[in-house]
Amino acid sequence: MDSPIDDRTMSDLLAAVPMPMVAIGPDARILMLNAPARAVLGECIGTHYLIVIRQPEPVAALERVLAGGEGGAVRWRATGPGRDTIYRGTVSRVTGLGVTLAFEDISELEQAADMRRDFVANVSHELRTPLTALLGFIETLRGAAKDDPAARERFLGIMEREALRMNRLVADLLSLSRVEAEERVRPTAQIDLAGLASSVLATLRGVAEGAGVALELDVAPGLPTVPGDGDQITQVLHNLVENAVKYGASGGKVRVELRAVSQHPQLRGPGVSVAVIDQGEGIDPMHLPRLTERFYRVDSHRSREKGGTGLGLAIVKHIVNRHRGRLKVESEKGKGSRFEIVLPVH
Ligand SMILES: Nc1ncnc2c1ncn2[C@@H]1O[C@H](COP(=O)(O)OP(=O)(O)OP(=O)(O)O)[C@@H](O)[C@H]1O
Ligand SMILES: [Mg+2]
Repeated sequence: MDSPIDDRTMSDLLAAVPMPMVAIGPDARILMLNAPARAVLGECIGTHYLIVIRQPEPVAALERVLAGGEGGAVRWRATGPGRDTIYRGTVSRVTGLGVTLAFEDISELEQAADMRRDFVANVSHELRTPLTALLGFIETLRGAAKDDPAARERFLGIMEREALRMNRLVADLLSLSRVEAEERVRPTAQIDLAGLASSVLATLRGVAEGAGVALELDVAPGLPTVPGDGDQITQVLHNLVENAVKYGASGGKVRVELRAVSQHPQLRGPGVSVAVIDQGEGIDPMHLPRLTERFYRVDSHRSREKGGTGLGLAIVKHIVNRHRGRLKVESEKGKGSRFEIVLPVH
């Protein structure tokens, strides 16, 4: 049966499609587009499609279909002022009308895929280094060092260190994925940050003394409790103070300050702030934006030497996000660093 489709039906159909979609007539002019397409291409009814669609991939597909060829999938990249956008689309022939192009922005999907790939590559790389060392020493212990008790002891010591590094890496990865899994569920228990901070400092006192660093705790009186997960906040404080001791040792002192914040602009309400301040070598500003990325280290050789996995601050960021808090890092080369978290009271 012949059912003529009028303009109204066509535009209702386009409006029913959630992704951007344009209809182009046989004369290559744009006949119709839905609101999502208008948001990308602007108002363009009646203009030649080449005026608004310029990337060679969709243009070639549209030309082909307008000339009577087969429709199909297309993919293209649009360079924007900020970042590129990647689109995936389908060009189809519509009898009696012309062609349609429906497309969607898949930049975020692509980015997530890139991140996943990078992550796997990073993890493999981090595990391979200690594994290679272990395998090398096993071979040496079987061969050259077989009858040399002194060498054997030394190699076993190194093997232990490498195995412990792998152990730490796996523990950090597990903890990161646990935190990520719960990130959308805000904790409900009430925690006392001063108590947690003082127990973290007690645990790290030995390490700090070994590094020649004095730990100071300064708690403002009458701090409110905050909703939080005690174990996770302990981990946050532990990671921050450990970093300050590890990388800021030259300053000789690490201070932890707890303050009430009556009105935090980003939290839109009261909060409690915990700042970990060292007077060490500081961090070059160019590194600051990337510091909380997984495996990002300013000086990877040095961090690895200190047994670091580069996951400490990534874990901090996810835990603070789960608490709907904020993390702020200020640092000046040669003067030291200040890592501050603010957790909302409500
Ligand atoms: N207080 C600080 N002063 C100077 N640099 C710092 C400080 N805190 C962190 N950094 C830098 O940030 C990097 C990332 O820190 P992060 O805690 O994520 O990893 P890590 O300490 O190398 O390893 P991990 O914490 O997993 O053992 C560190 O390698 C270091 O270069
Ligand atoms: Mg660390």
